[in-house]
Amino acid sequence: MSKVSMSNIIVVRDLTKNFPQGEETLFILRGVQLDVEAGATVSIMGQSGSGKTALLNILGGLDDFDGGSVVVGGEELQGLSEAALSVFRRKKAGFIFQFHYLLKDFTALENVMMPAYIGGMKKKAALEKARALLSDMRLDARIGHYPSQLSGGERQRVAVARSMINDPDVILADEPTGNLDPEHSAVVSELLYANAEKWGKSLLVVTHDKTVAQRAQFRYQLSEGVLKREGTAAVGTSSEGTGKET
Ligand SMILES: Nc1ncnc2c1ncn2[C@@H]1O[C@H](COP(=O)(O)OP(=O)(O)O)[C@@H](O)[C@H]1O
Ligand SMILES: [Mg+2]
Repeated sequence: MSKVSMSNIIVVRDLTKNFPQGEETLFILRGVQLDVEAGATVSIMGQSGSGKTALLNILGGLDDFDGGSVVVGGEELQGLSEAALSVFRRKKAGFIFQFHYLLKDFTALENVMMPAYIGGMKKKAALEKARALLSDMRLDARIGHYPSQLSGGERQRVAVARSMINDPDVILADEPTGNLDPEHSAVVSELLYANAEKWGKSLLVVTHDKTVAQRAQFRYQLSEGVLKREGTAAVGTSSEGTGKET
């Protein structure tokens, strides 16, 4: 039995996720175990189609799952209503995707403030917080720019700042540098990790880029439906096992 520490911000046990595919069923996640301490940085690599996005979407309350238990920021996600999940997403999870999804008619500053507005933060507080986050992302000179006036790397840095505005427990980044050349990728990656650490956020980064993955404190591979610590056997495998570890 693996211990569950109270300080763990993410606790996943025996997580399974299936997708119906015509007459068949795809068993994508087949017993994922994961513990993430508050403030820890984690990277997940894995082949295309291995279920990385499925896992992040479940952790962020964007998608449901078939079996097991997922506790994020003290909240068990299984059985939460759609309304409760919506609150959970707004308060506890910050998302960064491969595509920035910035609103084109709003400036960098307004884009970062947006989730705070929606969450009911006072305008002055939201403004100050957004400015501080953009400054931490080294975008002081870009806060009045519209997305079309920013480089790809700068847009992703705005997206990182936006992910942190509501003070989430976890930042979930799905291929955050997947669209960038190596140079911009390195800058975005370093700022993402450094600021997650500065603001005390737990960070999960899904990436194809070994350099980006190496920067994390804890590194995993998602393979055959289970998470494996890099260079080790399957993590926290229960007695019935998955039959996959070597
Ligand atoms: N909504 C869905 N319906 C059916 N199959 C899906 C759905 N979403 C993902 N899948 C399948 O689940 C597998 C894992 O997808 P995904 O998590 O996106 O992989 P990754 O992010 O590791 O590339 C893929 O085989 C994909 O085709
Ligand atoms: Mg994916």
